[in-house]
Amino acid sequence: MIKKKGQYIRLDTAATTLVIRADTAEYLYYGQRLGGGDIAAIPSAGKKLFSCPGTNDYTEYSLLFESADGGFAADLQFSKARVLAEKPEIPGLPSSYGDGKTLELKYVDAASRLSLFLYYTAFDNSDVIAVSSKLVNGTRKPVRLRRLMSLQLDLTGDYSVVTFDGGWARERQRHERDAGCGIFVNDSKSGYSSHAHNPFIEVKNEYGVYGFNLVYSGNHKETVERGTDGRTRVLVGINDYMFDWALPVGESFYAPEAVMCWAPDEDALSLRMHAFVGEHIVRGKWKRRERPVLVNNWEGTYFDFNEEKLLSIAAAAKEAGAELFVLDDGWFGHRNDDTSSLGDWYDNVEKTGGGLASLADKVRAMGLSFGIWVEPEMISEDSDLYRAHPNYAMKLPGRKPVRLRNQLMLNMADERVQNFVVRTICDVIARSNADYVKWDFNRSMTDCYGKGIPAGEYFHRYMLGYYRVVCKITKRFPFVLFEGCAGGGGRLDLGSLCFFSQYWTSDNTDARERIAIQSGTSYGYPQTVMGAHVSACPNHQTGASNSLEARFNVACEGLLGYELDLTKLSEEERAEIASQISFYKENRKLLQFGDHYRLQGKNTAGFITVSKDRNGAIAVVNLLEWHPGDPAPCIRLKGLNPAANYEVSVREGDWVRCIGGDVLMQADIPLPGLFDFEAAKRWSGGIMSRMYILRRQRS
Ligand code: GLA
Repeated sequence: MIKKKGQYIRLDTAATTLVIRADTAEYLYYGQRLGGGDIAAIPSAGKKLFSCPGTNDYTEYSLLFESADGGFAADLQFSKARVLAEKPEIPGLPSSYGDGKTLELKYVDAASRLSLFLYYTAFDNSDVIAVSSKLVNGTRKPVRLRRLMSLQLDLTGDYSVVTFDGGWARERQRHERDAGCGIFVNDSKSGYSSHAHNPFIEVKNEYGVYGFNLVYSGNHKETVERGTDGRTRVLVGINDYMFDWALPVGESFYAPEAVMCWAPDEDALSLRMHAFVGEHIVRGKWKRRERPVLVNNWEGTYFDFNEEKLLSIAAAAKEAGAELFVLDDGWFGHRNDDTSSLGDWYDNVEKTGGGLASLADKVRAMGLSFGIWVEPEMISEDSDLYRAHPNYAMKLPGRKPVRLRNQLMLNMADERVQNFVVRTICDVIARSNADYVKWDFNRSMTDCYGKGIPAGEYFHRYMLGYYRVVCKITKRFPFVLFEGCAGGGGRLDLGSLCFFSQYWTSDNTDARERIAIQSGTSYGYPQTVMGAHVSACPNHQTGASNSLEARFNVACEGLLGYELDLTKLSEEERAEIASQISFYKENRKLLQFGDHYRLQGKNTAGFITVSKDRNGAIAVVNLLEWHPGDPAPCIRLKGLNPAANYEVSVREGDWVRCIGGDVLMQADIPLPGLFDFEAAKRWSGGIMSRMYILRRQRS
């Protein structure tokens, strides 16, 4: 809800309020929802909505451009404020959607006639506020845009900053540090949102926590600067690293949308972010649908498969109760390892036994859906595509390009290349009639170049090309379930999630390692988007072994799949998997769409998912470490109804007890089954894991 009273504008969500003073371009307040007091009486603390050179503000600016006369300074003065009933689209870029009102603010530099527009959307049913900006060149000469951040939030006080960092197979590890005095930067320079630093960050103090994210999959930058005047400025937007955009006369530059949210603590912030992503980012048929249990052949076969092998895995998948069979890398061109064929999206008839269409029909005849892997933005030098169109590859003329995973990238900033990708990938989906597509992206950018594209525009033009392509393909196949992937979860961001309803969280499928990766991911993203698979032991990434039960329990935090050769398992293991899948399907609505909380204790970690009415919940508790003499592990649950009594049982066991929701949340309870001394003595170093099922007792 947005209310305007003269120059004072109040944006309310159910739990938060943002107060803006339009004429002075200030935030007067952002935090917990205010009562009905006079907002005009809130004293100014000098917290600005945007910043640029030309004032005595020497904090990092949200806007930086060089005008035709060579100056950097601008004097942007208030021009007008409007409340829009429809949220404006951002041309060429994905953005959030839904019912709500948008505030548009316009500031003009009288000398140059350059205008800055700021947009703030308050949705009817979300505590997240979407913010974006646009620069319009109304001057008579071109302007060089060096930076346009999507969001600026000035705060007062001391803060710590939480980021989610990592690398391949260790995505989104939570790090928290004092913002201190000076500038802290979280960013990506590798052309994609990256494994290294996710764009979701938190800025915390003793009163609450602000969460920020960017609806963008390319180079991003979040700065938190604590000035010596006690003000902390948060900026979120496209990274200005190697960015230099020539803005022609009369044209606009649209910064991608950023989002912000305030909550009293991190658990509440995550719930708000989850609800926002589920309701205002993910779209289409799969938005609220239960996601299928899949079996993927990647870790089961890697590149070494034929039709018989694939169909035997599919048959075992069907027998175990899975619903979707996914054929991963290696089905096209002559790809038998990662050195060839990217770009040659035609069937390897030998490996698929007659091609995708016939394989897909056979899989469907078994009663399974069929899914396919593609990596559309890439090209192998050993490919017919490269031989025919070497200039489709992203590389600098006269230089040897850097190969990563033995491959080059396509120059997606070029419309001809975009059209090639749309045509060939649509053909793959159409001819296999695929129900699911895994869209992979396995390397970062190094040789950014496209003929006729200024170097300073390349990264962003790539993103515009990428979005044009995914938009066309996903629109053409509205019923297909798309899962994003980037060497695991390297491009798991809000931009991708506007097109892909789910995302492969990490190539690391080790249960212990997954706990931290999934927990880190869950701060900003809901479990409904996190692909989580049970794989073979010893684990292919770490060599560690964990019980099948532990692997299943951990995977239940996200969208369950199995990624192993089921035909190599024993009868008992296959029976256990069948019972896991049947349990998961029965409880899938709760697991996938319930309220998700992280659980953390001494040496324990896990999660609980609570139904919206709080009458049911499933908790997974993992004991990560055990030393002789350690006391029995304890845990506090979250999200339950404190006034209700719950019947608590262990999934694989006969222990049942009735316990109050208040006790479960307030007392450190040694939960049974998790720890038994005899088992601990035989402990192999794997995690000990238990799943607890809670049902509210009717009184
Ligand atoms: C990436 C993905 C994996 C798998 C391989 C195939 O690493 O993250 O899941 O699809 O590519 O080459």
